[in-house]
Amino acid sequence: MGVLHHVGDTANAYAIVDQLKAALVPGSHLVINHATNAVHGVASDESVAHWNKFGKPPITLRSPGQIERFFAGWTLLPPGVVSCARWRPGTVDDSSVEVDEFGGVARR
Ligand SMILES: C[S@@+](CC[C@H](N)C(=O)[O-])C[C@H]1O[C@@H](n2cnc3c(N)ncnc32)[C@H](O)[C@@H]1O
Repeated sequence: MGVLHHVGDTANAYAIVDQLKAALVPGSHLVINHATNAVHGVASDESVAHWNKFGKPPITLRSPGQIERFFAGWTLLPPGVVSCARWRPGTVDDSSVEVDEFGGVARR
């Protein structure tokens, strides 16, 4: 949760998750949330650039498709990889607000 966007090299991030997935038994669930710019575009790019200039650890934004790739080979639970505010709306105070943090849950 909130860790993979701190792994800058995308191939390395996939390798880490693939290694974890390989060690988990059928019936296991994988939960990931990851920063993106799919909703706010340049505003999120600028926000992260500011963070990366003054904060640590650096953040690498990835597209929803790149985030979905982490779950490859597993069964994504509805509603799939979406803005976290859209994942089972009604369980948060204001599900009308799209956030540039996408996530999903998948089962092996
Ligand atoms: C936004 S916090 C999320 C913490 C917690 N998982 C949560 O959801 O509340 C990001 C976390 O990623 C960890 N982190 C940063 N770079 C990492 C890396 N390369 N490998 C593993 N963890 C890392 C940080 O130490 C920090 O605890």
